[in-house]
Amino acid sequence: MHNSNSPDDRGYFGDYGGRFVPDTLMAPLLQLEQAYAELSASSEFWREFESMLTQFVGRETPLQYAARLTEKLGGAKIYLKREDLAHTGAHKINNAIGQILLARHMGKTRIIAETGAGQHGVATATAAAQFGMKCVVYMGAEDMARQEMNVFRMRLLGADVVAVNAGSRTLKDAVSEAMRDWVGNIADTHYLLGSALGPHPYPRMVRDFQSVIGREAREQILAQEGKLPDTVIACVGGGSNAIGIFSGFVNDKDVALIGVEAGGTAIAAGEHAARFAGGKPGIFQGMKTYILQDNDGQASPTHSVSAGLDYTGVGPEHAWLHDLKRATYTNVNDDEAVTAFHLLARTEGIIPALESSHAIAYTIKSAPAMKGKTIIVNLSGRGDKDIGIIQKYDGARK
Ligand SMILES: Cc1ncc(COP(=O)(O)O)c(C=O)c1O
Repeated sequence: MHNSNSPDDRGYFGDYGGRFVPDTLMAPLLQLEQAYAELSASSEFWREFESMLTQFVGRETPLQYAARLTEKLGGAKIYLKREDLAHTGAHKINNAIGQILLARHMGKTRIIAETGAGQHGVATATAAAQFGMKCVVYMGAEDMARQEMNVFRMRLLGADVVAVNAGSRTLKDAVSEAMRDWVGNIADTHYLLGSALGPHPYPRMVRDFQSVIGREAREQILAQEGKLPDTVIACVGGGSNAIGIFSGFVNDKDVALIGVEAGGTAIAAGEHAARFAGGKPGIFQGMKTYILQDNDGQASPTHSVSAGLDYTGVGPEHAWLHDLKRATYTNVNDDEAVTAFHLLARTEGIIPALESSHAIAYTIKSAPAMKGKTIIVNLSGRGDKDIGIIQKYDGARK
């Protein structure tokens, strides 16, 4: 069974995780592990983290009963965990605040990050501005074009946004570039990684910072319904919003945990990012996990209408939960996600992120057959950043 002391001392969740990095990255990772071990044992640190979450991020976020969506689907009662209402518009800010406090404790003055949809970049630039630190964000050139508004937001917040033109010019290439920068600037720089992935201790640390979502959701549903939900649904890119909400329920074996990956245009090479549907275990960007790869073990290209789900590997704790059958991973395609985007906007007056729209799409498919049951969907972010993509998508679909 899953236990909250995971990963083990070597950073393994069952068979997955670990620290597969060149020698040059070992020293900063060990320094980070040591600093996090110290800080996470300090109640003062958690008090400061929680105070920032309340004062700056605006937590707790509501758990909202989605009355009109529930009525329309005619099955399960649906609740939305409104991470879109957190400062900067997504769950990413929880982790950015946690890591920036850690960076300050380590005496670092320069922050680097990678970003796909731009929400993690915006969260990092925001936290860096709040703490007066220099900030550089690496972003694939393809993602910069898709998420122009977030690039502008990061620059307004004082960050340097560096275009990455290597490979598929998306998130995995931005991660590689950030790792290269870190190796060259270890003395003053903290790498503020944006999801529950990469080498140990990141998957654990990011989960711990995001677990506030699950703690709140559990208390809120007990207060509102007097019982636990039957199902918790979240989209899975790297896996941080999903592991954040899952962690609140993972020891409640009767609560089904469903992760929704990007099915893209088809489950065929290069057309999706559904690692559990098309991938297999291997080593990628410092961790052992499920990866989309070709027959030679090389990372395959990916596709999703949503920049934040378009990543080759999945966080290792999800790989473990998958093999344990404690969580179930499914996928929806681009069309289904865009349809869900529109439905939530019109029935609830909420424009969701395209990432979160994948979780909504799966809810639309499954809720009608779940009469008498309760679902919590993690609404990981708001969709302002995606409006241009929707405009183009709808234009092409007509
Ligand atoms: C709103 C939103 N949801 C979900 C994700 C996917 O990341 P993760 O799986 O780490 O939550 C992103 C990533 O950019 C995002 O911006």
